[in-house]
Amino acid sequence: MFKRYPPISKLPVFMHGADYNPDQWQWDAQVLEEDIRLMKLAGCNAMALGIFSWTALEPEEGVFTFDWLDRVLNRFAQEGIYAWLATPSSGMPAWLAARYPEVLRVAPNRVRQLYGSRQNHCFTSPVFREKVQIINTRLSQRYAHHPAVIGWHISNEFRGECHCPYCQKSFRQWLQNKYGSLEALNQAWWNSFWSHTYTDWSQVESPAPHGEKHNHGMNLDWKRFTTDQTVDFYRHEAAPLKAANPELPATTNLMGPYEGLDYRKFADVLDVVSWDAYFPWHNEECDRDVAVHASFCHDLMRGLKRRPFVLMESTPSQTNWQAICRLKKPGMHRLSSLQAVAHGSDTVQYFQWRKSLGASEKFHGAIVDHAGHEHTRVFREVSELGATLGGLAEVLGTDTEAKAAILFDWDNRWAVKDAQGPRNKGIHYDETVLQHYRAFWELGVPVDVIGASDTLDRYKLVVAPMLYMCRQETGEKLEQFVLEGGTLVVTYWSGIVNESDRCHLGGFPGPLRKVLGIWSEEIDALDDGEKNAILINAPVPRENGVISALSGMAGEYESFELCELAHAETAHVLGVYRDNFYAGRPALTVNRLGKGQAYYLATRALEPFYSDFYRAVSKEAGIRPLLETKLPQGVTVQARTDGEQDYLFMMNFSGKEQTIELDGSRYRNIETALELTEPFLKLPVYGVAILARGR
Ligand code: GLA
Ligand code: ZN
Repeated sequence: MFKRYPPISKLPVFMHGADYNPDQWQWDAQVLEEDIRLMKLAGCNAMALGIFSWTALEPEEGVFTFDWLDRVLNRFAQEGIYAWLATPSSGMPAWLAARYPEVLRVAPNRVRQLYGSRQNHCFTSPVFREKVQIINTRLSQRYAHHPAVIGWHISNEFRGECHCPYCQKSFRQWLQNKYGSLEALNQAWWNSFWSHTYTDWSQVESPAPHGEKHNHGMNLDWKRFTTDQTVDFYRHEAAPLKAANPELPATTNLMGPYEGLDYRKFADVLDVVSWDAYFPWHNEECDRDVAVHASFCHDLMRGLKRRPFVLMESTPSQTNWQAICRLKKPGMHRLSSLQAVAHGSDTVQYFQWRKSLGASEKFHGAIVDHAGHEHTRVFREVSELGATLGGLAEVLGTDTEAKAAILFDWDNRWAVKDAQGPRNKGIHYDETVLQHYRAFWELGVPVDVIGASDTLDRYKLVVAPMLYMCRQETGEKLEQFVLEGGTLVVTYWSGIVNESDRCHLGGFPGPLRKVLGIWSEEIDALDDGEKNAILINAPVPRENGVISALSGMAGEYESFELCELAHAETAHVLGVYRDNFYAGRPALTVNRLGKGQAYYLATRALEPFYSDFYRAVSKEAGIRPLLETKLPQGVTVQARTDGEQDYLFMMNFSGKEQTIELDGSRYRNIETALELTEPFLKLPVYGVAILARGR
């Protein structure tokens, strides 16, 4: 059942490297040789090469200069260093914009942007597509079989949207394909409201701050269109690369939780998922919350293809764009990098190799600083990590086993945030998802982050926080999951609208009503600082005489922000509201259905609710934590497995030294190759240990 996924064929070891921009250094002939010396010292074997090098490759329209890139790749091949070779579309040359202004993006206010910055081309412009095709074809013809090239790094961090006439036309076409008729579109978007019914396709315009902005169905479709157009652009870029060498893998660097694109739509077109991880470490003494967020993002990215991924960028120390650009304290670089590995990354890569002399990122962390040598703290820590990665061969390509999953879909996220009401001051969807996720992180229970179209058969527990947009088939799938013995957790503000953001009729939570055994009548919003609470009822005896595992919960748990007023139909009430005119009404219920059960949480709870609740629920669902001992706060354990050995990554984000009790199994520290002789493990501040344990 467990797989060891094949690594990139030319380099079947952990990759370690950085964005490498030698086009900036062509004026200094020494730099390339010095870089190669330093790469070897730092244990770097894979560079993302030439991401912004369009002008260096094509200084004038139709004039190409590849000699500098030949030199770099040939030297790499001689030295055993490899490259993710980039296509340069994310930074367009000035000559291109000057000659063909249509390549410049039009903002939502319909103003065409001036030349500058990056990642701001129109995805639809025929001229831009043609020029990209030319340069990509040249690159692929020249380098697709080069021994140093391990794969393609297509463009850089696709993002944003364009409202130009080409994009408007494509949007209308996209809508025609989707809806078939204008009547169907008017119906889906509920355009009779405010008399907005279209009578001709030409009347459809993308959302605008000075035009249509509160048509939620349209907003959703615009975001879906933007995703599809971006994926189509990716395909357009990949076509010549694949034609030259279908074996060479291609990827583009995603941005984890970035909201603007539905990354699940990229899963099929990417050969491997890669992403850029930047987190604000050390803003608090304990880094737990940042670590939880980072873990979630890694799980989200692994979930796109449900297999190991590439950490394409991270910073070796500082970023230069956070409000406070803190240094990574000693140890944090190793910890945060191995955290990515723990969650499925088979690489650790950075932005960037050598600090630029000028322009906007001259103060961004890099492996080689302006000092220009290896005698720096950052270089030392990077080199040490290189050595560590070199010793992790047995972990490469291993799987992740999660029995619990959290449902997190981009279109639900868009819709729940775009809706007007019930809490315009902040519905805190992302934060809510993280609150649920954090409980598992603290228990040391691995989680998959999945989408509604993923299969559920491998899970015992599925959590769906605020599943506001719930398609009919999603409801049926979750019901089937419970009937077959699964445990489902759903919160307030779920099952409200369909895929067009039109409300379900016949009682909320729409398609989830039967599985949850409740119907919800109203939802109340509380202001910041206002509280209610869930009073936990006496334990519920089950038919077979077993007392509900929730007997481990007692007393009251505070809640805030949203309180849904539901009626229990077939569900048992486990807890009720303490306050307000709905005191005594259900706040937490469970519905036994078929072989499984579905929990419903009517309000946003505060800790320790989630820790207590998920400890009880995951135990009841038969999910064992990776380590059956209590983890100190800020410490977690994640694992990869090959089916015979589990590789446990014990990680200390608490900011303090910690001692972790072990559970009696035999453990081998894979870095020292020594068996652990003591029943506990000491982790220094920001410490991380990788332990192998037989299954
Ligand atoms: C992004 C980009 C890089 C660089 C880094 C800086 O990830 O892809 O080019 O700008 O951010 O953090
Ligand atoms: Zn456009």
